[in-house]
Amino acid sequence: MALFKNAKWIRSPKTEEICPKFVKTFEVGKGLSEAKALIGARGVYFVTVNGIEFSDKRLAPGWTSFRRALADEEDLTPYLHEGKNEIAFTLGSGWATGEIIRRHTEGWMAHGQKDPFGRSLSKMYPETVALVAEISLSYENGEKCVIGTDGSFDVLSSQYRYADFYNGETFDGTAKEVSLGHAEVIDSWMPKCEKRNSPCVAEHERVGVREIIRTPKGETVLDFGQNLAGYPVIRYTGKAGERIRLSFGEVLDKDGNFYNDNYRWAKNDVLFITDGKTEVYRPHLTFQGFRYLRLDEFPGEVNPDDFTAVALYSDMKRIGRFESGNGKINKLYENILWGQRSNFIDVPTDCPQRDERLGWTGDAEVFCRTACLNYNTKGFFAKWLKDMALDQCPNGAVGSIIPATFIGNCSAAWGDAATVCPFEIYLAYGDKKLLRENFPMMKKWVDYIHGFGEEEYLWIGGSHYGDWVAMDAGYGSYIGATQTDLIASAYFYRSTDLLVRAGKILGIDVSEYEAMKEKIRTEFRRAFMKDGMPVVYPKGDALKDDRKEVVRGVTQTAIVLILHFGLAEEGEKKNLTDTLVSLIEANGGRMTTGFVGTPYILHALTENGRSDVAYDLLLQEKNPSWLFSVNHGATTMWEHWDSVNENGEFWSTDMNSFNHYAYGAVYDWIFGKALGAQIPDEGAGYREVAIAPHPDRRLGFMSASEETAFGKFALAWAYRENEIEYHFEIPEGMTAELTLPGESERTLTAGNYKFVRRA
Ligand code: BGC
Repeated sequence: MALFKNAKWIRSPKTEEICPKFVKTFEVGKGLSEAKALIGARGVYFVTVNGIEFSDKRLAPGWTSFRRALADEEDLTPYLHEGKNEIAFTLGSGWATGEIIRRHTEGWMAHGQKDPFGRSLSKMYPETVALVAEISLSYENGEKCVIGTDGSFDVLSSQYRYADFYNGETFDGTAKEVSLGHAEVIDSWMPKCEKRNSPCVAEHERVGVREIIRTPKGETVLDFGQNLAGYPVIRYTGKAGERIRLSFGEVLDKDGNFYNDNYRWAKNDVLFITDGKTEVYRPHLTFQGFRYLRLDEFPGEVNPDDFTAVALYSDMKRIGRFESGNGKINKLYENILWGQRSNFIDVPTDCPQRDERLGWTGDAEVFCRTACLNYNTKGFFAKWLKDMALDQCPNGAVGSIIPATFIGNCSAAWGDAATVCPFEIYLAYGDKKLLRENFPMMKKWVDYIHGFGEEEYLWIGGSHYGDWVAMDAGYGSYIGATQTDLIASAYFYRSTDLLVRAGKILGIDVSEYEAMKEKIRTEFRRAFMKDGMPVVYPKGDALKDDRKEVVRGVTQTAIVLILHFGLAEEGEKKNLTDTLVSLIEANGGRMTTGFVGTPYILHALTENGRSDVAYDLLLQEKNPSWLFSVNHGATTMWEHWDSVNENGEFWSTDMNSFNHYAYGAVYDWIFGKALGAQIPDEGAGYREVAIAPHPDRRLGFMSASEETAFGKFALAWAYRENEIEYHFEIPEGMTAELTLPGESERTLTAGNYKFVRRA
């Protein structure tokens, strides 16, 4: 059933108007008991009633697959009065029609209005913003009145003269709002609207100015001390026509000057021309990723108290806490949280600042478990997964970006978000219904890989991102040295495994996939392993019986995937682990891994008895390492291990974000292996956990907690002289199978526990 019964999609009669304002005046009679508005848009909007901006929602209605649009409900009751009232909606291009879409579809547009999977681009990427809204008035006497968008709405040119996520916003308080005529009812295809049941983007942390910097170049730069995504809020009342112009940056260059070349062609230029009346300015139809604000134009004295950076992200509940005895690790944890906050803006994005901010599936795939530990992300991911299912191609392919912009390739570890994310969300929150809803997508994804190419049980060929930004392929390479066919086939195995596990949980017959899983394993070992070690044969030779020459193959990531995904035989594990350790040693006690290997390298080590080396890597301070960025003043996660190198030089301007969450996935090792809490399939949602701590004296102590559906679950260990203390808090309804180092398993039911052991 259609969500809007009395409203039509409307647009400005002048489609070139970037931020049109749709206005409707209406009468309210006596005895109003309730007034609600249901608002959907293509683009983003903000709404005012009688000039009052009342909503907490930001960047509404968010970003979805082009096949659907969300509608939000607002309570207007407190803002209406008897007599004449006015409601106004100002729209900006947002995700639907802005540069974010234009830039990333240009290539496909050139290919004749269809993407490579035959979908019509004009539907996916319309030229103009559009609005659909219904205002429902209910009276005490039971009467009802509904006002829906139609051709009677007036359209004005707003004082928002320009707005775009990448390029910024121009607000001209001196501009006259000129009538553009009546709204046009859109009679072509428009997406179906659904009422939002996922968290909206809202304001969160507010950060003040830490320092006003006069740079060597003479620029005035405000340092908020925290890289974040959102907008600045500026208190300023001056004369009409004064100009406040801002540039945004994440870092200063090595000479201490303002720098934002890494934003590439995203201009992030915000201009407010004051109206002499407004007291507080903030962008309304854009957002930026920034720590530094350069005041390119500012009319008055710069008073730091007048500037605040406000973090915007989806309204998720914080459920996880962590602390350790190592200040640098605690800072790393803070940076992981900020990476998530900055990139969970209605969809999980890669970064919030440059000309991307896209729902890259691989980034979410590796970070998903950590995300679920930090915040309750169930509603957030449920929405994104629905869009993933809608944007999944008929042949099962899942593009690298969801909601889909371009679908140029279908990469292993990126498309596998289709199986990994639903399963991780099930483990974290135990919602079988959500897993069931996503099961068809998971199955189609596995079927897609199965049907890809010549080899039935391997994923050979295709276009992959590989071990993205790994350090072992030489400076300047993005793909890493691990062979992409090996990664793809390992992921084929992993996705099939997850599909089988999901089927068993849901009571669906998956015997066919169980058999497939075993065949993949056999074929993987035949094609990519020799004498228990990963190998790579010259291109095209991997499957030939007479293959001879073995070329590079033994990389850290190859071993990590073989060990962690369960592709090694028991008897091979020791040798593989020793080889992994020697590769780490040969690299000065450091990783070479990228997006694919890094999330699992510490897991692989701990699972194979080398937690000591896992801690070495965690505590490593030389590049590449997590603490290298912490030591270099990072306040979020960096995209590259060497986003800034030892000499303070930047990696390159080409691809260098200082706010990418992927490497933050290390927190799932901290929680799951160092503290030791894992959720088995049958314990989803924390009904049961398996706890096996792997403490290390170098950290002093570690403690973490999770607000679960059963209540607070907490666990900790702490070294005291010659002893180590373990603490566990188990809520009612949860059971834990505890294995302390060197001891056998015991069951803990609700209660607080303390165990003291010799250290
Ligand atoms: C993004 C990554 C993403 C990648 C694909 C980049 O531009 O920022 O995080 O996953 O492309 O490899």
